[in-house]
Amino acid sequence: MLHQSVWLVSLALMGVLAAVFLFVYSQSHVREDDYTPLQKRAYRLRARLFWVLVLTMGPAMIYNLVDLPYDAARAHAGNNAMVIDAVGHQWYWKLSHDEVRVGEPVVFRVTSADVNHGFGIYDLDLKLVAQTQAMPGYTNTLLHTFERAGTYRVLCMEYCGIVHHNMIAEIRVIEERN
Ligand code: CUA
Repeated sequence: MLHQSVWLVSLALMGVLAAVFLFVYSQSHVREDDYTPLQKRAYRLRARLFWVLVLTMGPAMIYNLVDLPYDAARAHAGNNAMVIDAVGHQWYWKLSHDEVRVGEPVVFRVTSADVNHGFGIYDLDLKLVAQTQAMPGYTNTLLHTFERAGTYRVLCMEYCGIVHHNMIAEIRVIEERN
């Protein structure tokens, strides 16, 4: 659905671009002796275009910024969140815990002991549900709440050497106790 509308918007923009190109091309044979009025028109157009950009991109930028999930993630985690330290090595993952409960917020503190790795959590259908980068000398925090019980997999998402494909860890997600 989202992909489709992104595609339609791209298509529309490509159409506009093609129309502008054709217009410029069709006008390129017309010669004028005095360029002053043309220049004035161009400047006016440029000023108008500037404000159109400010008025469309400004709100778009604000809309995108307020949607940043970082603060919400911090607020959600609270004190009762489970913390899992994850360290990437060539070529395996070391997790401080590998069992969590459904619906329990988990904070992953992700780093690397050697080179850059990609920390990607995949669900039972091997769909990516959360990811961050595992970097040496830096800890990335990733908040995730597992919604389904089962065995999730952590795969490396960044090529890190010949056994990159073997960096697989498992996280067991069990039903909440009552
Ligand atoms: Cu670690 Cu690819």
